[in-house]
Amino acid sequence: MTNWDELYKGKLITIEEAVQKIKSDDDIIVGQCASEPQGSMENFHLVKDKVKDVRVFSVLTLKPYEFFMNPEMKGHFELCSWFHAPGSRLALKNRTGTVTFVPNMLHRAATDRIHAKKPNILWGTCTPPDAKGFVSLSLGITYEKDVLEVADLVILEVNKNLPRTLGDTHVNIKDVDFFVEHHQEVPALPAAVPDETALKIGRYIAELVEDGSTIQLGIGNIPNAVALALKDKKDLGVHTEMLVDSMMELYEAGVITNKKKSLLKDKMVCTFAMGSKKLYSWLHDNMAVEFRRGSWVNDPAIIRQNSKMVSINTCLMVDFTGQVASESIGTLQFSGTGGQTDTAVGAKEAYDGLGKSIIACGSTSKNGTISTIVPTLPEGTAVSLHRSNVDHIVTDYGIAYMRGRTVKERTRNLIAIAHPNFRAELTEQAINLGYI
Ligand code: COA
Repeated sequence: MTNWDELYKGKLITIEEAVQKIKSDDDIIVGQCASEPQGSMENFHLVKDKVKDVRVFSVLTLKPYEFFMNPEMKGHFELCSWFHAPGSRLALKNRTGTVTFVPNMLHRAATDRIHAKKPNILWGTCTPPDAKGFVSLSLGITYEKDVLEVADLVILEVNKNLPRTLGDTHVNIKDVDFFVEHHQEVPALPAAVPDETALKIGRYIAELVEDGSTIQLGIGNIPNAVALALKDKKDLGVHTEMLVDSMMELYEAGVITNKKKSLLKDKMVCTFAMGSKKLYSWLHDNMAVEFRRGSWVNDPAIIRQNSKMVSINTCLMVDFTGQVASESIGTLQFSGTGGQTDTAVGAKEAYDGLGKSIIACGSTSKNGTISTIVPTLPEGTAVSLHRSNVDHIVTDYGIAYMRGRTVKERTRNLIAIAHPNFRAELTEQAINLGYI
């Protein structure tokens, strides 16, 4: 019988020793969001003078780490982000030359990267090993497990505060090269309090969600408000990329039962979770929640197998033809495509013909000074969701039906849900463009 404790201790090194394993030209893929190996990443810069051209790939880095915030790291380290966060946005703004963006759809982020170049190191986080020699990758397997299986070196940061989640999250000690221990508080999200605009949007979206639907909620301020508006629904199910507090609350309230799901019935399916401490303790050993790889959960071909699938995501602006911009404002890369295209396409094309994709945003931004419904996108803006894939657009002024609609119908429907202060101007612009 394997002595797991002995095997684990034999692979245990310090963070200082672990960072010495980084070599020039290495591609390191680190865990995302609450699965970020923060103890290790805070020390990457220590090997600056020893290495050149090390690239660190990640989705949503939670902290402004020295290895990419400090311009002196240029040529030594580069953060290659699949989804920007405040730190990487600031580094880009400061032109540190240490951050770049990787265009992607989340379900293919890892597989496309592995296709481009085999990663050298997977650096993730995990729970302490159990009596059978398994650790749990805990709060995220969006790409971590796919990469773990091909990387030359696997280093996991062990944190006893991480919940042991169920599904495909387990990894055997034998498949890990080194462990480092770093028992920190698990990164939590502050509770979001939706404003009146978000609440109005939530109520419109609730009109589109039928009892028995399987839902996906995206990232941002609006999804929380949507969850509040769903509290009178019955027998909802979850198949989502990101699991958040509001889903736990709807489950506890008996609104989410997962009983009407056509795929993985009785289970809430997700690929990562981020939220409060309460959410993390709820997830520990919770058989109601099934973590699966992002390459599976977010694959549109999988999403479309869900009955009455409704995907709910948010955007920054939409043009008259229905091009959805959710990740950049002009050439400024704000976030990333994430799973927006994956989930919107999967839902719209659901097998039963009852799927819906919803893209929501407030009708204005910048304190009411800018309309988010625009005639054309500003130059350089990335289109996150192709206009052929758009289905419903929702603002605080209503629902615009887009699927199968002409440019004339789309333009009219969108102007009808624009903020009243902008409708006359938008109508004039639409006439000038020859759209209506
Ligand atoms: N023009 C210019 N600036 C705009 C804008 C517009 N039309 N719309 C929003 N902004 C600015 C806001 O003022 C705010 O600026 P600030 O950070 O300086 O305050 C910023 O952009 C973010 O806007 P906000 O509405 O607060 O964003 P959010 O946190 O609700 O996130 C998205 C919204 C769209 C950025 C986010 O959902 C996203 O990145 N989506 C793409 C990926 C995705 O949907 N994945 C799905 C599964 S997770």
